[in-house]
Amino acid sequence: MDLKLILPTKKYYNQIEEYKKSFLAANSSMDGTGSLRRKNVDEWLKESRDHHLGKNLPDGFVQATQYLCVRTSDDKLVGMLQIRHELTDFLLNFGGHIGDSIAVDERGKGYGKEILRLGLEKCKKLGIKKVLITCLDTNVASRKCILANGGKFEDKRTLNRTVNDLTVSETLERYWIEL
Ligand SMILES: CC(C)(COP(=O)(O)OP(=O)(O)OC[C@H]1O[C@@H](n2cnc3c(N)ncnc32)[C@H](O)[C@@H]1OP(=O)(O)O)[C@@H](O)C(=O)NCCC(=O)NCCS
Repeated sequence: MDLKLILPTKKYYNQIEEYKKSFLAANSSMDGTGSLRRKNVDEWLKESRDHHLGKNLPDGFVQATQYLCVRTSDDKLVGMLQIRHELTDFLLNFGGHIGDSIAVDERGKGYGKEILRLGLEKCKKLGIKKVLITCLDTNVASRKCILANGGKFEDKRTLNRTVNDLTVSETLERYWIEL
Protein backbone atom coordinates (compact mmCIF):
# COMPACT_ATOMS: atom_id res chain seq x y z
CA MET A 1 0.00 0.00 0.00
CA ASP A 2 0.96 3.51 -0.82
CA LEU A 3 0.98 4.81 2.81
CA LYS A 4 3.86 6.11 4.92
CA LEU A 5 4.29 7.43 8.44
CA ILE A 6 6.03 10.77 8.79
CA LEU A 7 6.64 13.22 11.63
CA PRO A 8 4.14 16.12 11.61
CA THR A 9 5.23 19.34 9.90
CA LYS A 10 3.65 22.69 9.02
CA LYS A 11 3.29 21.52 5.43
CA TYR A 12 0.24 19.52 6.57
CA TYR A 13 -1.21 22.35 8.70
CA ASN A 14 -4.49 22.68 6.77
CA GLN A 15 -4.96 18.94 6.41
CA ILE A 16 -4.42 18.43 10.15
CA GLU A 17 -7.04 21.09 10.85
CA GLU A 18 -9.48 19.43 8.43
CA TYR A 19 -8.75 16.00 9.99
CA LYS A 20 -9.67 17.37 13.39
CA LYS A 21 -12.84 19.11 12.11
CA SER A 22 -14.07 16.00 10.31
CA PHE A 23 -13.60 13.82 13.42
CA LEU A 24 -15.48 16.35 15.56
CA ALA A 25 -18.28 16.57 12.97
CA ALA A 26 -18.56 12.78 12.83
CA ASN A 27 -18.27 12.48 16.62
CA SER A 28 -15.52 9.94 15.99
CA SER A 29 -12.95 8.89 18.54
CA MET A 30 -9.68 10.75 17.80
CA ASP A 31 -7.27 7.96 18.70
CA GLY A 32 -3.58 8.38 17.96
CA THR A 33 -3.76 12.16 17.74
CA GLY A 34 -2.45 13.15 21.18
CA SER A 35 -4.08 16.37 22.36
CA LEU A 36 -5.36 17.50 18.94
CA ARG A 37 -8.96 17.57 20.18
CA ARG A 38 -8.06 20.23 22.79
CA LYS A 39 -5.27 22.20 21.09
CA ASN A 40 -4.90 24.30 17.97
CA VAL A 41 -2.61 22.96 15.27
CA ASP A 42 0.32 25.27 16.13
CA GLU A 43 0.26 24.17 19.77
CA TRP A 44 -0.17 20.55 18.73
CA LEU A 45 2.81 20.66 16.33
CA LYS A 46 5.01 22.07 19.08
CA GLU A 47 3.79 19.53 21.61
CA SER A 48 4.33 16.67 19.15
CA ARG A 49 7.93 17.81 18.60
CA ASP A 50 8.52 18.14 22.35
CA HIS A 51 7.01 14.79 23.29
CA HIS A 52 8.96 13.07 20.52
CA LEU A 53 12.12 14.34 22.20
CA GLY A 54 10.80 13.57 25.71
CA LYS A 55 10.63 17.32 26.53
CA ASN A 56 7.95 19.19 28.52
CA LEU A 57 6.04 16.03 29.35
CA PRO A 58 3.08 16.56 31.68
CA ASP A 59 3.10 14.53 34.93
CA GLY A 60 2.51 10.85 34.22
CA PHE A 61 3.30 11.17 30.49
CA VAL A 62 6.09 9.26 28.75
CA GLN A 63 8.08 10.03 25.61
CA ALA A 64 5.76 9.57 22.64
CA THR A 65 6.13 9.93 18.89
CA GLN A 66 3.27 11.32 16.82
CA TYR A 67 3.04 10.31 13.17
CA LEU A 68 0.94 11.46 10.25
CA CYS A 69 -0.04 8.70 7.85
CA VAL A 70 0.16 10.12 4.34
CA ARG A 71 -0.84 8.52 1.02
CA THR A 72 2.17 8.98 -1.24
CA SER A 73 0.27 9.23 -4.54
CA ASP A 74 -1.66 12.39 -3.60
CA ASP A 75 0.03 13.51 -0.36
CA LYS A 76 -3.28 13.19 1.49
CA LEU A 77 -3.35 12.83 5.27
CA VAL A 78 -5.31 9.60 5.69
CA GLY A 79 -4.51 8.70 9.30
CA MET A 80 -2.61 9.41 12.49
CA LEU A 81 -0.70 7.16 14.86
CA GLN A 82 1.02 7.75 18.16
CA ILE A 83 3.60 5.50 19.81
CA ARG A 84 4.15 5.67 23.55
CA HIS A 85 7.76 4.57 24.08
CA GLU A 86 7.09 2.88 27.42
CA LEU A 87 4.15 1.82 29.54
CA THR A 88 2.96 3.59 32.69
CA ASP A 89 0.43 1.81 34.92
CA PHE A 90 -2.37 3.56 33.04
CA LEU A 91 -0.98 2.59 29.63
CA LEU A 92 -0.34 -0.99 30.79
CA ASN A 93 -3.92 -1.33 31.95
CA PHE A 94 -5.78 0.68 29.33
CA GLY A 95 -3.91 2.78 26.78
CA GLY A 96 -1.23 0.53 25.30
CA HIS A 97 1.80 1.54 23.22
CA ILE A 98 -0.08 2.56 20.06
CA GLY A 99 -3.13 4.66 19.29
CA ASP A 100 -4.29 5.24 15.73
CA SER A 101 -7.12 6.46 13.57
CA ILE A 102 -8.04 6.64 9.90
CA ALA A 103 -9.72 9.66 8.29
CA VAL A 104 -13.50 9.32 8.38
CA ASP A 105 -13.80 9.33 4.56
CA GLU A 106 -10.95 6.83 4.03
CA ARG A 107 -12.15 3.96 6.21
CA GLY A 108 -12.92 0.45 5.02
CA LYS A 109 -10.06 0.35 2.49
CA GLY A 110 -7.63 -1.68 4.56
CA TYR A 111 -5.79 1.42 5.79
CA GLY A 112 -6.53 0.59 9.45
CA LYS A 113 -4.62 -2.66 9.12
CA GLU A 114 -1.81 -1.00 7.17
CA ILE A 115 -1.27 1.96 9.55
CA LEU A 116 -0.88 -0.50 12.41
CA ARG A 117 1.60 -2.59 10.41
CA LEU A 118 3.63 0.57 9.73
CA GLY A 119 3.38 1.56 13.40
CA LEU A 120 4.73 -1.83 14.48
CA GLU A 121 7.75 -1.32 12.17
CA LYS A 122 8.43 1.96 13.98
CA CYS A 123 8.05 0.23 17.38
CA LYS A 124 10.64 -2.33 16.28
CA LYS A 125 13.06 0.47 15.39
CA LEU A 126 12.50 1.94 18.85
CA GLY A 127 13.51 -1.39 20.37
CA ILE A 128 10.08 -2.25 21.78
CA LYS A 129 9.94 -6.05 21.84
CA LYS A 130 6.35 -6.63 22.97
CA VAL A 131 3.75 -4.11 21.89
CA LEU A 132 0.52 -3.67 23.82
CA ILE A 133 -2.52 -2.51 21.86
CA THR A 134 -5.95 -2.06 23.35
CA CYS A 135 -9.40 -1.42 21.93
CA LEU A 136 -12.86 -0.92 23.34
CA ASP A 137 -14.75 -4.21 23.40
CA THR A 138 -17.31 -2.53 21.10
CA ASN A 139 -14.74 -1.52 18.44
CA VAL A 140 -15.07 -4.30 15.87
CA ALA A 141 -12.91 -2.62 13.20
CA SER A 142 -10.05 -1.92 15.61
CA ARG A 143 -10.11 -5.47 16.96
CA LYS A 144 -9.89 -6.81 13.38
CA CYS A 145 -6.89 -4.56 12.65
CA ILE A 146 -5.11 -5.78 15.80
CA LEU A 147 -5.83 -9.45 15.08
CA ALA A 148 -4.74 -9.05 11.44
CA ASN A 149 -1.38 -7.82 12.74
CA GLY A 150 -0.86 -10.82 15.02
CA GLY A 151 -2.38 -9.51 18.26
CA LYS A 152 -2.71 -12.10 21.03
CA PHE A 153 -5.59 -11.44 23.41
CA GLU A 154 -4.63 -11.25 27.09
CA ASP A 155 -7.69 -9.96 28.96
CA LYS A 156 -10.30 -7.22 29.32
CA ARG A 157 -10.02 -4.42 31.87
CA THR A 158 -12.62 -1.91 32.94
CA LEU A 159 -11.90 1.80 33.06
CA ASN A 160 -14.16 4.08 35.08
CA ARG A 161 -14.04 7.73 34.03
CA THR A 162 -15.94 10.75 35.26
CA VAL A 163 -17.56 12.77 32.47
CA ASN A 164 -19.75 15.75 33.46
CA ASP A 165 -20.09 14.35 36.99
CA LEU A 166 -21.23 10.98 35.65
CA THR A 167 -19.16 7.81 35.98
CA VAL A 168 -18.68 6.15 32.60
CA SER A 169 -17.48 2.57 32.52
CA GLU A 170 -15.55 1.31 29.48
CA THR A 171 -14.19 -2.17 28.86
CA LEU A 172 -10.92 -2.43 26.97
CA GLU A 173 -9.55 -5.56 25.33
CA ARG A 174 -5.77 -5.92 25.66
CA TYR A 175 -3.63 -7.54 22.95
CA TRP A 176 0.14 -8.15 22.73
CA ILE A 177 2.19 -8.34 19.56
CA GLU A 178 5.73 -9.74 19.78
CA LEU A 179 8.16 -8.15 17.35
C1 LIG B 1 -10.50 1.47 13.74
C2 LIG B 1 -10.12 2.14 12.41
C3 LIG B 1 -8.69 2.66 12.51
C4 LIG B 1 -10.23 1.10 11.29
O1 LIG B 1 -9.83 1.73 10.10
P1 LIG B 1 -10.25 1.16 8.67
O2 LIG B 1 -9.37 1.82 7.67
O3 LIG B 1 -11.71 1.28 8.46
O4 LIG B 1 -9.85 -0.38 8.83
P2 LIG B 1 -9.71 -1.44 7.65
O5 LIG B 1 -10.31 -0.91 6.39
O6 LIG B 1 -8.30 -1.91 7.64
O7 LIG B 1 -10.68 -2.59 8.18
C5 LIG B 1 -10.29 -3.55 9.13
C6 LIG B 1 -11.44 -4.54 9.30
O8 LIG B 1 -12.50 -3.90 10.00
C7 LIG B 1 -13.71 -4.00 9.25
N1 LIG B 1 -14.45 -2.77 9.48
C8 LIG B 1 -14.14 -1.51 9.07
N2 LIG B 1 -15.05 -0.65 9.54
C9 LIG B 1 -15.94 -1.38 10.24
C10 LIG B 1 -17.11 -1.06 10.96
N3 LIG B 1 -17.55 0.22 11.07
N4 LIG B 1 -17.80 -2.06 11.57
C11 LIG B 1 -17.35 -3.33 11.49
N5 LIG B 1 -16.24 -3.70 10.81
C12 LIG B 1 -15.56 -2.74 10.20
C13 LIG B 1 -13.26 -4.13 7.82
O9 LIG B 1 -14.26 -4.73 7.05
C14 LIG B 1 -12.05 -5.01 8.00
O10 LIG B 1 -12.51 -6.34 8.21
P3 LIG B 1 -11.86 -7.63 7.53
O11 LIG B 1 -10.59 -7.89 8.30
O12 LIG B 1 -12.88 -8.67 7.76
O13 LIG B 1 -11.59 -7.26 6.12
C15 LIG B 1 -11.10 3.31 12.09
O14 LIG B 1 -12.42 2.82 12.13
C16 LIG B 1 -10.99 4.51 13.02
O15 LIG B 1 -10.17 5.40 12.79
N6 LIG B 1 -11.83 4.55 14.07
C17 LIG B 1 -11.79 5.65 15.03
C18 LIG B 1 -10.57 5.58 15.90
C19 LIG B 1 -10.37 4.19 16.48
O16 LIG B 1 -11.29 3.52 16.92
N7 LIG B 1 -9.08 3.79 16.53
C20 LIG B 1 -8.64 2.52 17.10
C21 LIG B 1 -8.42 2.71 18.52
S1 LIG B 1 -7.76 1.30 19.30
